[in-house]
Amino acid sequence: MQIYTTIAACRAALGTERQAGRRIVFVPTMGNLHEGHIALMQKAREHGDCIVASIFVNRLQFRPGEDFDKYPRTLEADCEKLVAAGVDYLFAPPEAELYPSPQRYVVEPPPEHAAILEGEFRPGHFRGVATVVMKLFSIVQPHAALFGKKDYQQFMVLSSMVREFALPIEIIPGETVRAPDGLALSSRNGYLSPEERAEAPRLYRTLLNVAEAVRSGCRDYARLETEAMDHLRAHGWVPDYVAVRKRIDLQCPTPEDISLVVLAAARLGSTRLIDNLEI
Ligand code: PAF
Repeated sequence: MQIYTTIAACRAALGTERQAGRRIVFVPTMGNLHEGHIALMQKAREHGDCIVASIFVNRLQFRPGEDFDKYPRTLEADCEKLVAAGVDYLFAPPEAELYPSPQRYVVEPPPEHAAILEGEFRPGHFRGVATVVMKLFSIVQPHAALFGKKDYQQFMVLSSMVREFALPIEIIPGETVRAPDGLALSSRNGYLSPEERAEAPRLYRTLLNVAEAVRSGCRDYARLETEAMDHLRAHGWVPDYVAVRKRIDLQCPTPEDISLVVLAAARLGSTRLIDNLEI
């Protein structure tokens, strides 16, 4: 695996690959890689013959007081996993390479996509995500890129961005990878104490219950959401939201809408977890 830390070197190497006719598939990450990331790398291989990963903890998508400083940075271990997964290139720039001066030009996703759900509790988060992904796309110029469905809203925002800017990039979803007890894999799971880790799968079980109720015909989504949040609170969680939404745009469904997803975000101690389940 070739590792590049500068934009110029990464562009030059990938330019050669493009000219050789290889299909470049890109998996952007913030590192601290787990099986969910590795599944994305493996899926990337099904979609192309030059696999590029990036590792960059993007300050722009963290709000003051969030975990930017303590976000786990584990480059050496990550590189070993990427090599084992057969990744061809890693772009891992230092912050000064991607943001040599404050980033003034940004991608501002529309509020109906970015100010709901995660965006309500993390204002500006999707501006930060869209801006760095646009910049990474401009450096890597991939034919396709993969994003995990664990960050369901992120997937929707980035798919819309690519469509509306007519970027010639295929956006491919990756399924959420779960621990045997159902907890969705996430770099933030590492923040959990042993007791919190034992409690954490309740978030997924709560989503399963909501999904089951909807599948059984319940259309009173507001009641299901309230009950789910009360259930989490009763077990020590501080939920931000549990929401049944339309898959396509994450807006509130009418009783006739059938393609749904239930999404949740909740704090357990000082760790904020998110998860979702297509219904
Ligand atoms: O999902 C992530 O890890 C990040 O939001 C991304 C897409 C790499 C942008 O920083």
